[in-house]
Amino acid sequence: MPKNVIVLGTQWGDEGKGKVADLLTSEANIVVRSQGGNNAGHTLVVGDRKVVVRLVPSGIMHPKCRCLIGSGVVVNPVALFEEIEELKAAGVADAEERITVNGSCSLLLPVHPAIDKASEKARGKGAIGTTGRGIGPCYEDKVARRGVRVGDLMHMDFFVEKLKRLLDYRNFMLKNYFHAEEVSFQSVMEQVEGYRDRLLRMVGDVSDILAKARADGRKILFEGAQGTFLDIDFGTYPYVTSSNTTAGGCVTGSGAGPLSIDYVLGIAKVYTTRVGGGPYPTELKDELGEHIRQRGKEFGAVTGRPRRTGWFDAVAMHRSAVLNSLSGLALMKLDVLDDLDEVKICTGYRYPDGQVRDLPPFSAYDYEGVEPVYETMPGWKQSTFGITSWDKLPENARKYVKRLEELSGVKVAILSTGPERNQTITLEDPFA
Ligand code: GDP
Ligand code: IMO
Ligand code: MG
Repeated sequence: MPKNVIVLGTQWGDEGKGKVADLLTSEANIVVRSQGGNNAGHTLVVGDRKVVVRLVPSGIMHPKCRCLIGSGVVVNPVALFEEIEELKAAGVADAEERITVNGSCSLLLPVHPAIDKASEKARGKGAIGTTGRGIGPCYEDKVARRGVRVGDLMHMDFFVEKLKRLLDYRNFMLKNYFHAEEVSFQSVMEQVEGYRDRLLRMVGDVSDILAKARADGRKILFEGAQGTFLDIDFGTYPYVTSSNTTAGGCVTGSGAGPLSIDYVLGIAKVYTTRVGGGPYPTELKDELGEHIRQRGKEFGAVTGRPRRTGWFDAVAMHRSAVLNSLSGLALMKLDVLDDLDEVKICTGYRYPDGQVRDLPPFSAYDYEGVEPVYETMPGWKQSTFGITSWDKLPENARKYVKRLEELSGVKVAILSTGPERNQTITLEDPFA
């Protein structure tokens, strides 16, 4: 039986999931997204073409790949069609025909970004630093069982009734709690009428497609969005996103059974980044942090915000290995550290009571006073950019990678030395 592989972020997002998903899609027939929405920004570099996908699965650049959007994804159809138009302009003429959206996906409506922005403003200094795309409020409505779903558009009487109730509730909040502008029923209906038929043509049963594809022996890639420490349950709450970004989310959000997963590939940078607020023990707030940001081009793919940068955190990584049942690691952006004299790895957290532990705290507030304990290794001071074989790497770079592997407790399957598909060292093929 061929392998079904999950590709997911093990840190705070932007690890390079897009590159790896695109790379592995040469072997996969199907790529499925299971959670998140257009808060994600996954960069695909194919020759001189660079494409950033947000809702569309990263398999789209491969002509034969079918791309599925599972039930756990919150879908903003306006954003989806914008993205499809961008893909068409980039030469992917049949993008729309190759995408299927599950009928039970939650619909993200203009009221959601409105609430997101108003609620961030109200939080003031304690703002989460969301992408402002309305992801949290859309999941709130889903869980509160007042949300509208893609499939509701097949029954317009029912849809209109649900939408009215939803807007009544949300506008009450916008007006009376946030003192912000309301979103009119007419404006939402106009937008919905504009995309309804086009969206309904893309609707299908993702769970059924996955089950049949598996029975036919086809290879499926499950593409995670965000990263493990942005997980609603296991991340640095409340500075998290509103979905399960860990491996379980790929199963519940796609409708594939848990036993259909054969391999979980965790993506990690050889350092760390985080965009938005929240705890970040290994953050470098100095010139070195700025240097890594510039060399790594660490600016958000969705919002353009500068990403915070820091050393590799092996405490977080080890935790991530447990939370996700990682089978293998893809270590990314080795080239970014090429010119450093030395590199550091966080091997423990020193808590305010003086104890050093290898477990992260339960929530953001408990990170107060937690200090990273570092191990230092010599740098390699040589270019690794574009290297495609392990043996050609400088010795100190190999030692660094081996140490990351040892501390994580997960073998390195892929090592990335540049943004392009071929700038990669493959040590183990997850689909083999
Ligand atoms: P994702 O959200 O996990 O898909 O990651 P993003 O696309 O948001 O950010 C990763 C960035 O790193 C993108 O700009 C990639 O093109 C780039 N990238 C990926 N792998 C490498 C690498 O090995 N070296 C360098 N220099 N850039 C890389
Ligand atoms: P990809 O898939 C990095 C962060 C936001 C914010 C928090 C909550 O490209 O890795 P949200 O808009 O989801 O309510 O914001 O989560 N965030 C991401 N950070 N990469 C992402 O996606 C992210 N998606 C959300 O910056 O801190
Ligand atoms: Mg990203």
